[in-house]
Amino acid sequence: MDGCFFVQPWTPCFSRSNTILLLAFTLILSTVIEALQVIGGNVTVVQGGTAILSCKLIDTTETLSQISWQKITRGNPVNVNFFVVSEVDGPQFVNGADDRFKFIGSFEEHLASLQLSNVTLRDEGTYMCIFTLFPSGNHKTDIPLNVLVPPVSSLEDNHPTLGNEEVSLVTCIAAGSKPPAEVRWLMDTLAETVRETTSFTHHANGTTTTTSSLFGVASKEIKDHLVQCVVTSKATSKEEILYFNIQVYFPPTEVRISDSSEGSFECVTEANPKADFTWTRVGQAWPQSAVRDGATLRFQKMTSDLNGLYQCEASNPYGKKHSPLYVHVASDAGIACWILFGLLLIAVVAVVVASVVWYFYKSGRFTRLIGNSLSRTREDTRGERTMVPTTSNSPEGPLRVEEEAAEGSL
Ligand SMILES: *[C@@H]1O[C@H](CO)[C@@H](O)[C@H](O)[C@H]1NC(C)=O
Ligand SMILES: *[C@@H]1O[C@H](CO)[C@@H](O)[C@H](O)[C@H]1NC(C)=O
Ligand SMILES: *[C@@H]1O[C@H](CO)[C@@H](O)[C@H](O)[C@H]1NC(C)=O
Repeated sequence: MDGCFFVQPWTPCFSRSNTILLLAFTLILSTVIEALQVIGGNVTVVQGGTAILSCKLIDTTETLSQISWQKITRGNPVNVNFFVVSEVDGPQFVNGADDRFKFIGSFEEHLASLQLSNVTLRDEGTYMCIFTLFPSGNHKTDIPLNVLVPPVSSLEDNHPTLGNEEVSLVTCIAAGSKPPAEVRWLMDTLAETVRETTSFTHHANGTTTTTSSLFGVASKEIKDHLVQCVVTSKATSKEEILYFNIQVYFPPTEVRISDSSEGSFECVTEANPKADFTWTRVGQAWPQSAVRDGATLRFQKMTSDLNGLYQCEASNPYGKKHSPLYVHVASDAGIACWILFGLLLIAVVAVVVASVVWYFYKSGRFTRLIGNSLSRTREDTRGERTMVPTTSNSPEGPLRVEEEAAEGSL
């Protein structure tokens, strides 16, 4: 009789004695329900990967009439049937096909497993695997699908300008991570002079952006210091390291002009970002034989029409500074012999010149020398080279001190 109820409950043997049989049936049925199990699991997958939603029915001898799947996801938080498998029709989608799902189970083996590829965050949710048995009806299990999202890491230069106040130097961002990414800094010796602050922004889609900034005084000492931002996330096995040289921005400092070669001048300054240089001629049209190429000014032919005041301006987005160059080419009756007045603004030279000037000034030979130099310039057929130094800080009125130099036969 047991066997009769167990295997085929709706056989004629069922109707022998109503009370006893109903009681027995209930007992047996509950035994069946307790014994059978639907085994699922908790699935975790990284976004873009493939998830296996395993589901198996065990310990039953009842007849399986249908396997069905339902889901409640972030993308569609309403419980919907989306997949069924029957012995006759095989696996098929209901309510629209999604080719990312593939039935990898077996109806005969009571295996309902699905494979989901190209998983997105919208797929996260609960998947219900349902076995419909005869006669006991539906037996189901819930399979949570957790989707991990790796962060998108980046560094942001906060463009600190040289100063004495504490400012934000650089920010490391680990965006849209699930679970939240951890961000920390490796900065060696800098650890004593800068501090870090970290904050989290939670997004509606369940991801979190971790933002960590380094704060410190933007001094020249910390400029170009290498720091590392280390991002760790459960969604990636490896930690990600982003390297950054701390930047401190400032306008061009003193502009110096050096004569790099014959008839060629180079403008030099310190600035961050690198300065752009512009050569101009003050009060006159740019001469044809003068070529300006970035920081360099080159005179192709030494003719007296080049004479005058030139100016080199160094500029970057933080400011600009300029320095003058006084040029004097004295030509003499067709003889190719030129006199070039240039100016050197290298600090050392300036200091030397300043002392010489001071010496002459003190000794009363100042005016005498200038007088000599000017008259000789006009008289001397072979010419001579004369330097006219000025200081970069007084570009409007270059200090004209002419100093006798080696006889020039250029
Ligand atoms: C599934 O596993 C994830 C991570 O392993 C955990 O956060 C979550 O709580 C688990 N869910 C259930 C329903 O067990
Ligand atoms: C999964 O993504 C890959 C690459 O983006 C694509 O080639 C493939 O067709 C996608 N598969 C499905 C089933 O959508
Ligand atoms: C989650 O939301 C944030 C903010 O709206 C967005 O930037 C991010 O791309 C989203 N992530 C995913 C995986 O959809």
